[in-house]
Amino acid sequence: MSKAFDVIVIGGGPGGYIAAIRAAQLGFSVACIDEWANDKGGPAPGGTCTNVGCIPSKALLQSSEHFEHAGHHFADHGIGLSNLSIDVAKMVGRKDAVVKQNNDGILYLFKKNKVGFFHGRGAFVKAEGGAYEISVTGAANETLTGKHVIVATGSSARALPGVAFDEDRVLSNDGALRIPAVPKTLGVVGSGVIGLEMGSVWRRLGAEVTVLEALPNFLGAADEGVAKEALKAFTKQGLKFQFGVGITEVKAGKTGVTVAYTDAKGAAASREVERLIVSIGRVPNPSGLNPEAVGLKLDERGAIVVDGDCRTNLPNVWAVGDVVRGPMLAHKAEEEGVAVAERIAGQHGHVNFDTIPWVIYTSPEIAWVGRTEQQLKAGGVAYKAGQFPFLANGRARALGDTTGFVKFLADAKTDEILGVHIVGPFASELIAEAVVAMEFKASAEDIARICHAHPSLSEATKEAALAVDKRTLNF
Ligand code: FAD
Ligand code: NAI
Repeated sequence: MSKAFDVIVIGGGPGGYIAAIRAAQLGFSVACIDEWANDKGGPAPGGTCTNVGCIPSKALLQSSEHFEHAGHHFADHGIGLSNLSIDVAKMVGRKDAVVKQNNDGILYLFKKNKVGFFHGRGAFVKAEGGAYEISVTGAANETLTGKHVIVATGSSARALPGVAFDEDRVLSNDGALRIPAVPKTLGVVGSGVIGLEMGSVWRRLGAEVTVLEALPNFLGAADEGVAKEALKAFTKQGLKFQFGVGITEVKAGKTGVTVAYTDAKGAAASREVERLIVSIGRVPNPSGLNPEAVGLKLDERGAIVVDGDCRTNLPNVWAVGDVVRGPMLAHKAEEEGVAVAERIAGQHGHVNFDTIPWVIYTSPEIAWVGRTEQQLKAGGVAYKAGQFPFLANGRARALGDTTGFVKFLADAKTDEILGVHIVGPFASELIAEAVVAMEFKASAEDIARICHAHPSLSEATKEAALAVDKRTLNF
């Protein structure tokens, strides 16, 4: 006997579990199927984000930042420390405990919202009588039927061609989050978000980190001014970068990895490292779904084809998050999950792709929303720019971190904010004000006229907005 639901969600990452909760709030009977298992084989909902992504990476970034502060910055505050040491096993154990708190939190939320949770792999069996039959195999073996199906099966790390992840020497994000001891040398292929965050963690703990990037320039998606400032800061911290690299061979041995490549001039080079993180992007993960059984359409990359509202080619089958087009970000997946649940309920769910913030949790942090200066130039948009350095911000001086700036880009005629770019302390938190402003179509002058607490880093945001009109007060 199959169990019948109004909505079946396949995948319990931020896209799936949030869609399930919102659908349940709207009065539907909901099942969520997720196959992620913890080291004891138990359920570990939360997907990549909770298990091997956002949450564990931020836990290690926090621990390693404490270590860096204790080793290099406490002395400036008159705090003396001797025999500073790092217990990597304990640090990784703390990270695992943070992950478990989040897994347990999601299981609690499922109970609270009466979402039926099934631990196993969900696959399409057939479409019949206006409903979809879904099999669950794994810890739970069941057959479910659902009128609506939301697919949120996420993404997985992209490997270099012919170089499989062994998670010991050649590491994806998974292995990069549980290196057992600080490596003397660490190679990172790809200077994107994971490369910078994980490279920073292990560099702070003492590894000599070299980042090999295929493109000739750094962080192409970020505003050029921000990318330049960040590269300067990372290089000063000791991260080594090589751009324009073409990896030709990766050979993993028992104690290290040899990476052969061509450099920017095309000359052959090679480097021995103790471990190698490969962070060259992620690929959509429709694995195990059995899309052929119902004719669910995928594109050539394996992404599920959806329209702007996350509708697939099948009636009442939706897909959200990393498994569809768009940025691979947890908050984008969540927004899509909520919007789809609301659309199923006949409401007007909406995701504004123009105001999805990006954050890179390095030190300095990097955050932006909207268009970059180079995008505005390429699009022929007339704009005004205003920038304010943290060096001139009292709170940043008191914190002891004056790296970076806030930059506003506003329409030359209407003053509407078109983009905000921050590199510096707590950029991840400061960007929220810019997102709100852009969502409400605010002008730079709107922000400049709002009272910001003193002393706070957010005053740099106000000053950058004032700078658009060339009237900063403190610079
Ligand atoms: P996922 O989180 O990948 O979840 C998919 C779930 O579906 C998984 O649990 C998987 O096991 C399950 N599944 C797959 N197939 C099946 C099946 N057939 N049956 C049952 N279950 C199935 N984003 C941010 O916004 N901020 C960050 O700071 C951030 N940090 C990151 C750090 C790292 C190291 C990585 C790798 C990613 C990071 N991301 C971050 C990206 C973020 O993790 C993803 O965008 C987000 O997890 C996507 O959510 P999702 O629900 O689409 O998929
Ligand atoms: P990425 O797309 O951010 O960066 C990949 C980098 O690798 C690019 O600079 C690319 O030019 C380079 N590259 C590609 N092929 C290469 C090759 N063969 N040799 C050398 N370099 C090569 O991908 P990354 O870092 O793997 O992260 C995947 C995604 O996960 C991110 O795009 C983001 O969506 C998400 N993420 C988000 C985080 C956040 O929001 N803070 C943190 C970590 C990941």
